[in-house]
Amino acid sequence: MALRIGFLGGGFIAHHHGKMLHVSGTAHRIVAVHDPDREKAERFAAASGARTVATEEELLDAVDAVYVCTWTSEHRRLVEAAAARGLAVFCEKPLAFDLGEAQAIVRAAETAGIVNQVGLVLRDSPSFALLRALVDDQASGRVMSVVFRDDQYIPVQGQYASTWRGDVSKVGAGTLLEHSIHDLDLLEVLFGEVVSVTGATAAFHGLPGIEDVAVAQLRFAGGAIGTLTSVWHDVLSRPSGRLMEVLCERGFYVLEGDVWGPVRSTRDDGEVVFDRNGIEAELGRRGIGYRNPDGAFVEAVTRGEPASPSFADALRPHLLADAVYASAADGGRPVAVPSGRPG
Ligand SMILES: NC(=O)c1ccc[n+]([C@@H]2O[C@H](COP(=O)([O-])OP(=O)(O)OC[C@H]3O[C@@H](n4cnc5c(N)ncnc54)[C@H](O)[C@@H]3O)[C@@H](O)[C@H]2O)c1
Repeated sequence: MALRIGFLGGGFIAHHHGKMLHVSGTAHRIVAVHDPDREKAERFAAASGARTVATEEELLDAVDAVYVCTWTSEHRRLVEAAAARGLAVFCEKPLAFDLGEAQAIVRAAETAGIVNQVGLVLRDSPSFALLRALVDDQASGRVMSVVFRDDQYIPVQGQYASTWRGDVSKVGAGTLLEHSIHDLDLLEVLFGEVVSVTGATAAFHGLPGIEDVAVAQLRFAGGAIGTLTSVWHDVLSRPSGRLMEVLCERGFYVLEGDVWGPVRSTRDDGEVVFDRNGIEAELGRRGIGYRNPDGAFVEAVTRGEPASPSFADALRPHLLADAVYASAADGGRPVAVPSGRPG
């Protein structure tokens, strides 16, 4: 039996998930989409083969699993409605405006016992998988520092085709929460727990409550000290781009680009640049797989097994985002970050 999937929200990221589901080869059907913006609903329906439905309830009645692809302010209410019916849920990042609300979403999912997955999709990026393998090599020694820059044109224009990221009541905050929640997640996945942060933010676009520059300094439990710089500018030729430089005792690694690198490795025995083919070959040589996160979600739901990354996995990056904002609001005072899963 094919899993029946419904989409709440038929915009930019819904199309991405629709395509990833299509190429996943899993047994599923996208049966319904609901979006109050009729044009978006109809375009998604045409692309995915779903039918449009007029209400959230109608959608929830027709499916086994739901993708919550709305703006952030709707996530909690919709996840709770799906969880109350025992439906599996894939919810986009950030889960919520802050840690407290994210914890409420996790509680709703765990109380209902539903399969749940969050859209922290860069965990499945092949280039970050290779970077992790290079950093983890004994030959690299310990990680000493990381310089992480993430920039994109402010996503109220261009390919995003929507403006809600300029409305604090829908987005909650700016570039750190909305975009760099991925980066806060990756930093701990790659380098272990952060124990304290300092932060500073700035706003050039004059959108109330929405920072377009966020700079954080992070201290890791392993001793490394890193920085994250997250910027929303107006260079329309730069939709989204990440650059990470990792300085280890005996290795220097540079990753550019979110998915297929290139990744550059410099050690005393030479320099290697991995392009897309090189990344695939090197991951294969090391026996490291990478997956289609949407296919993995369908398989987890079909088998009734836990999915990953789960909503609970999003709690640490939410904790870090809150800590950076708290530091920024207090003139850059260091904020301690407790270990483990937040309360
Ligand atoms: N994982 C990623 O890399 C990634 C990338 C882009 C966006 N996102 C996330 O995806 C979510 C959506 O972003 P987007 O870029 O697709 O925005 P979008 O504006 O393209 O689409 C959002 C849609 O949700 C609809 N909507 C609002 N309330 C709704 C409701 N109650 N029921 C049904 N539909 C509703 C809107 O009408 C809109 O069409 C956000 O949480 C965003 O942070 C994640």
